[in-house]
Amino acid sequence: MKFKAMTAVAALLLSVPAVTLADPDGDSLVINGEIEMITETAAPAHLSDAMDTIYSGWRFREDETQALQLDDFDNPGMIFADLGLDQWNKVEGEAGKSCASCHDDVAESMKGVRATYPKWNETAGEVRTLAMQINGCRTENMKAEPYKYTSGEMTNMEALISVQSRGMPVDVAIDGPVQATWEAGKEMYYTRFGQLELSCANCHEQNYGNMIRADHLSQGQINGFPTYRLKNAKLNQVHDRFKGCIRDTRGHTFDPGSPEFVALELYVASRGNGLSVEGPSVRN
Ligand code: HEC
Ligand code: HEC
Repeated sequence: MKFKAMTAVAALLLSVPAVTLADPDGDSLVINGEIEMITETAAPAHLSDAMDTIYSGWRFREDETQALQLDDFDNPGMIFADLGLDQWNKVEGEAGKSCASCHDDVAESMKGVRATYPKWNETAGEVRTLAMQINGCRTENMKAEPYKYTSGEMTNMEALISVQSRGMPVDVAIDGPVQATWEAGKEMYYTRFGQLELSCANCHEQNYGNMIRADHLSQGQINGFPTYRLKNAKLNQVHDRFKGCIRDTRGHTFDPGSPEFVALELYVASRGNGLSVEGPSVRN
């Protein structure tokens, strides 16, 4: 048998009774009948050796899951964006300020913001994820406690900020001061983790469209984060998703907010340059 020579991923793929090759479906995503989402587009130039086309994870979900994202009244993630708005207006910390004290109207001040994160922050001299920037404003500008990195408060706020950019193409910079971080993230993406010795690329680049156990493998894009998952009935922060995927390789994982995951987020975000910001999205 050739079985021995097979990679671990092939073994996993074979662990389902019938290996079905199922490409992304042809559905189109228009939210509330008006916001047209780019769920498929040409891969960014830096990916051209690896793939021609990039797809939102939405395209790999079942119709019933997809339907929950078509209308904001059906999208369970939107409730959390509303909670985020309460937080936006709430005065906290020693400076006696709320987010609204400095940024005014969230729709105006945060439009387009989500599409560019993670990005370089000149004042801090570091690459910041959106979560880091939110906490930067809390600690530096409000003199308030930071949110726990993957807490409900954090994902509520991320959802609120993300909604203001829905439909806009992800446009994350990969050069200049972020380049070294981006390279580190790329290296991680192709590193094999855990007892199964699987890299992100083994699943999300080489096997998207295939079934793995009961799951239809997507490209592992993050344009939809934060993501409401039916599995745990809450909004999920992107670093929690990274953690889960590495854990599935039976690997030792990194902490949310760690430099490793910040770099990985920048790189994975850049693989989705051109797809619409979808958060809060719905997945299983
Ligand atoms: C005292 C004023 C002040 C308060 C209060 C404040 N911010 Fe900010 N915020 C700023 C300034 C100034 C900047 C731009 C400079 C920087 O990058 O640090 C900024 C930048 C940001 C950005 C990045 C925007 C971009 O274009 O990249 C986000 C996101 C943000 N704030 C979110 C928040 C949130 C959420 C809160 C409440 C939890 C908040 N801010 C509270 C002053 C404030
Ligand atoms: C053993 C295969 C496997 C490996 C290795 C793996 N993943 Fe996943 N990943 C999955 C499965 C299965 C899902 C759920 C179905 C889907 O969306 O692809 C998933 C989902 C995701 C999602 C959610 C996509 C969405 O649309 O919400 C992201 C993001 C992701 N993975 C990133 C990563 C990253 C980054 C790595 C490397 C650290 C990685 N994955 C490694 C199997 C894997």
